[in-house]
Amino acid sequence: MDALLRATYVTVITATRKIAQLIVFRFSHLRLAVSRLVDTRSSQAFPIRSISKIDAATSRLGDGNVIPKIGFGTGTVWYKDNVNDPINRELIETLKDSLREGFVHIDCADSYGTEREVGIAIRESGISRDKLFITTKVLDGWEDVPKAIDASLKRLQTEYVDLYLLHNPYVIGTAEGLRQGWKGMELVKASGKARSIGVSNMQKRDIQAILTIASEIPVINQLEFHPYLQRSDDFLPWMRSHGIGVSSFKSLAPITVAKGGPLDDILGSIAYTHGVTPSAVLLRWAMNQGVIPITTTGRRTRMKEYLAALKLNLSSEEQEDITKVGLTHHFRWWGKNFFDVDDRS
Ligand SMILES: NC(=O)c1ccc[n+]([C@@H]2O[C@H](COP(=O)([O-])OP(=O)(O)OC[C@H]3O[C@@H](n4cnc5c(N)ncnc54)[C@H](OP(=O)(O)O)[C@@H]3O)[C@@H](O)[C@H]2O)c1
Repeated sequence: MDALLRATYVTVITATRKIAQLIVFRFSHLRLAVSRLVDTRSSQAFPIRSISKIDAATSRLGDGNVIPKIGFGTGTVWYKDNVNDPINRELIETLKDSLREGFVHIDCADSYGTEREVGIAIRESGISRDKLFITTKVLDGWEDVPKAIDASLKRLQTEYVDLYLLHNPYVIGTAEGLRQGWKGMELVKASGKARSIGVSNMQKRDIQAILTIASEIPVINQLEFHPYLQRSDDFLPWMRSHGIGVSSFKSLAPITVAKGGPLDDILGSIAYTHGVTPSAVLLRWAMNQGVIPITTTGRRTRMKEYLAALKLNLSSEEQEDITKVGLTHHFRWWGKNFFDVDDRS
């Protein structure tokens, strides 16, 4: 009898939990739909809010400089097929909104074609340059990095960037090329035109090639990182042991391009518990591992949702749950042609 009662009890509790999770998940979607309806472009002047609060949310890079814990990106949805396409006014206004909301870190690249918009947005914001953190990257110009940075600085209307990244090992193609590109990066750092230098989309072998000649250690490797691509073979700890930090993109993959995976309900449920959105949970999950997520949106409501990650406290069980369940599924968005289907490195 006892056993029957216990079994009934367990069944009822499990079913109730499932139903509650389902309601929570649906509710968070309803809330997002409503927030989209009320989203408006701001006409407020600068400065809207003190950015000192966000200034405090920084991490220290291996070279001693600091970097804001989250960045606002101008690639992916903003990417131009031709870098010389006309100025995108929508992006400029979005960037100004992101600054109003409290982002202080903007991510761009020469290949996105958006450096001019970043320069204009900063100028129009009236925020002084030293309050902002600007990252840009060099792609095709890797053979002459000092020349490439001059062109980027001109488009950005600034005398220096805070972080300059060697963008793409597959464009460079060889270990010798990587070393040549890195020597160029070091010249740029020595000239003061980049306060810090790093890499992007590099695998362990690429970084090892660079380390054979490096006088300056790359401070960051910016790469795709999320619960469904956690980078096998202890790649993150290995980078950390060499003083290389990690910045992520596609951090929101489980709720965007890889939606429909095993984390769907879990993220909705954790988000509801904390009164935030699943996007904030994913960004916090990355931040809790010392990763600097770069995200983006065209909607002001989402900017607020993202920044809520800075104040979110996930319990160790919630963090673990996302990690463990994330590891049961695999998804890669960037450069998937260069990897085997199940390669998680
Ligand atoms: N180094 C590299 O090679 C590299 C590669 C890719 C990206 N990046 C950088 O990383 C930045 C971020 O790009 P990402 O694509 O990786 O960003 P992400 O943070 O993974 O995703 C941002 C997108 O998620 C959407 N989104 C947010 N919440 C959502 C929800 N609840 N439901 C559905 N969609 C939702 C947003 O759409 P809405 O716009 O509609 O709000 C936005 O476009 C880029 O702009 C770029 O600067 C670098």
